[in-house]
Amino acid sequence: MDWNQLFFVLIPYISVTLFIAVTIYRSIFRPFTVSSLSSQLLERKKLYWGSVPFHYGIVLILLTHLLALIFPKALLLWNAVPIRLYLLEISGLALGLWALAGVVLLIYRRISVAYIRKVTTPMDIVVLLLTLVSIITGVLTAVGYRFGSTWFTGVFTPYLWSILTLQPRPELVAPLPWLIQLHVLNNFILLAVFPFSRLVHILTWPLHYLFRPWQIVIWVRERRQLAE
Ligand code: HEM
Repeated sequence: MDWNQLFFVLIPYISVTLFIAVTIYRSIFRPFTVSSLSSQLLERKKLYWGSVPFHYGIVLILLTHLLALIFPKALLLWNAVPIRLYLLEISGLALGLWALAGVVLLIYRRISVAYIRKVTTPMDIVVLLLTLVSIITGVLTAVGYRFGSTWFTGVFTPYLWSILTLQPRPELVAPLPWLIQLHVLNNFILLAVFPFSRLVHILTWPLHYLFRPWQIVIWVRERRQLAE
């Protein structure tokens, strides 16, 4: 087995297996641990300014990655008109930089606020650093190897489908520059770490709040007791 097979076949499959198996195990057997373990009560201002740009930026970027994976032809059609291609690339870059500013502030918050430092686990640091590397390598790829939204469909759409359909084609990634390879490898490592970290909160999709019955909170203590 060479490096290419290790990085772009073995590690991806280990990551996907861990992601699925541990996430299912955790959801079934330890459901109350599936949480973002919010530290909002300890500090909220820096959290707001870090978390909002980070989440909006990263969610929209991941949606465009998904678009390239599922609807490559539609994306190529969109990119066929230069102004639309520029619009997509510039928006992607702006979102990437926005997410980068957000994650840098979240890391600074973890280091600089004493209360937050106390509740920070080694896994929180690992996740933040992997996310930072993801965003930096993604933005540098977008800047250094332009029009990624187009060449993604020729390289990564077939590569990722080859992994998903159990017919791996690592040779598609082998000739790419190391920066782009690092972006992909780092994201597979992030996938492996996902179920062991607070990132599992992504899967909670808290939309049921919209449909569930009202929560009625009843104050049961006597007024007299409260006055004491
Ligand atoms: C293995 C899956 C992935 C592949 C193959 C991939 C590939 C790419 C490529 C080719 C680009 C350049 C796009 C362009 O120039 O327009 C890019 C950008 C980027 N990626 Fe990924 N990526 C993957 C997963 C992720 C994940 C999981 C994250 C976040 C945690 C991420 C974050 C980013 C960011 C922030 C950018 C910069 C966007 C921009 O500035 O346009 N990527 N990625």
